[in-house]
Amino acid sequence: MNTVPNSTTSRREFLKTTGRVAAASALAGVALPHVHAANSDTIQVAFVGNGGRGTGAVANAFGTRNQGPIKLVAMADVFHARQASSYSTLQRQFPEQVDVPEERRFIGFDAYKKAMDCLKPGDIVILTTPLAFRWVHFTYAIEKGLNVFMEKPLTSDGPTSQKMFKLAEAATAKNLKCGVGLMSRHSRALQELANRVHDGEIGDIVLMRGYRMHGPVGFFSSLPKPQGISELLYQVQRFHSFLWAGGGCYSDFYIHIIDHLCWMKNAWPVKAQAVGGRHYKLSPEGIPYVDQNFDSYSVEYTFADGTKFFMDGRCMTGCNDIYSSYLHGTKGFAVASHDGDCGMPSSTYKGLDAVSANRLWVSRVPNDQRDPYENEWQELVAAIRNDKPYNEVKRGVEASLTTSMGRMAAHSGQEITWDDMLNSADYAPGLDQITMDSPAPLQADAKGDYAKPEPGEKGKREF
Ligand SMILES: NC(=O)c1ccc[n+]([C@@H]2O[C@H](COP(=O)([O-])OP(=O)(O)OC[C@H]3O[C@@H](n4cnc5c(N)ncnc54)[C@H](O)[C@@H]3O)[C@@H](O)[C@H]2O)c1
Repeated sequence: MNTVPNSTTSRREFLKTTGRVAAASALAGVALPHVHAANSDTIQVAFVGNGGRGTGAVANAFGTRNQGPIKLVAMADVFHARQASSYSTLQRQFPEQVDVPEERRFIGFDAYKKAMDCLKPGDIVILTTPLAFRWVHFTYAIEKGLNVFMEKPLTSDGPTSQKMFKLAEAATAKNLKCGVGLMSRHSRALQELANRVHDGEIGDIVLMRGYRMHGPVGFFSSLPKPQGISELLYQVQRFHSFLWAGGGCYSDFYIHIIDHLCWMKNAWPVKAQAVGGRHYKLSPEGIPYVDQNFDSYSVEYTFADGTKFFMDGRCMTGCNDIYSSYLHGTKGFAVASHDGDCGMPSSTYKGLDAVSANRLWVSRVPNDQRDPYENEWQELVAAIRNDKPYNEVKRGVEASLTTSMGRMAAHSGQEITWDDMLNSADYAPGLDQITMDSPAPLQADAKGDYAKPEPGEKGKREF
């Protein structure tokens, strides 16, 4: 699962094996992306969703200048203030690589098109909006022949996942390179752990545990919408609070640990059951929270061979914070993430007691490869410049589906299978047509509250 699934022959190999004349006729009429030769021509970047992570991703992209020139030429967002702040940060830090005059800074739900229209085929677009817009923006990127870096999660519901699986294939068929921000896969420590686990160092995996439990972060909770902002923009801005927009805190916060533990197991779970609830329903000022999140989740995933994986998530202050992941095998034990989404060191032990006397291995990673966010960009750009197959989208959708399956099990109080998840409702149809005046996909009631998960009340529906 660590290798990128891609059976399509790369353009360069195709030209080599079939000869120029045959290739030219076979490719007639097919818009193939321009291939950037190593260390020669400049890769241009457009940046859609100018928030915190995306601004970091642009900096990571600039970090690949060791492989050849790369510059930012266009930006798109729905909030002017977010874009202005990102632009000034990037401009200050990277004056040589930021070339985005005002006429290439676009605002609105169609801004993504205008930004991508500034690129040539073979350039890169960064998609770091909330997940709801991923398929819309990815569709246009494929149409334009652009390579893509997109942030996780990729989907929140089944129909969108099915759409994204098809788009992933379309991107591969066009020889586009697509990176997905599940950076655990680019952690050198986890890569070596995966090799060791797959080689049997701790025997067969029988149990995995993941924890992300800390105080509220991001837009985990929301109060009723204030005056002065539309319903649509309120939900887009506070996307962790709304399942259609960001998959809620479960999808947004827990996907990294879920992804890397499933990688260690080399499979995706077939079903999930879960408990969860919302203990604190009022803000400290006594105002009811209106978001769609639980503050505690305990999900039991089951793999086809019966192996169990428990994922615990909590957003609550004053409790025992745990943020790490573990594997139990028939011969030993492993720490995957020591601290955080994929924090080093990883380590393996004989037996189940993680004491130093039992330690078999602890990760040691060279300084220049310790940052998985930098590694993922080095690898994406190397694939672009050397024209190597590279598409992480299918795997990103699978990780997103697995995450949604656990969330939906907790929210519905039912056992949810992979197929249940794939065939769930579409949470936000028609987002490709959305404008600033469109109604929000989720409507508030008279008190400004939204439909919430009520386990046991709504069958397999989540809210
Ligand atoms: N890999 C990681 O470790 C990591 C870390 C943080 C966030 N993320 C992911 O990155 C994404 C963004 O998260 P963030 O923390 O940067 O949020 P953010 O709110 O800081 O940034 C999102 C930006 O997208 C803009 N936006 C929303 N809808 C848009 C649209 N339709 N068109 C153009 N712009 C739009 C928002 O105005 C905002 O500026 C999320 O999917 C999140 O899960 C990944």
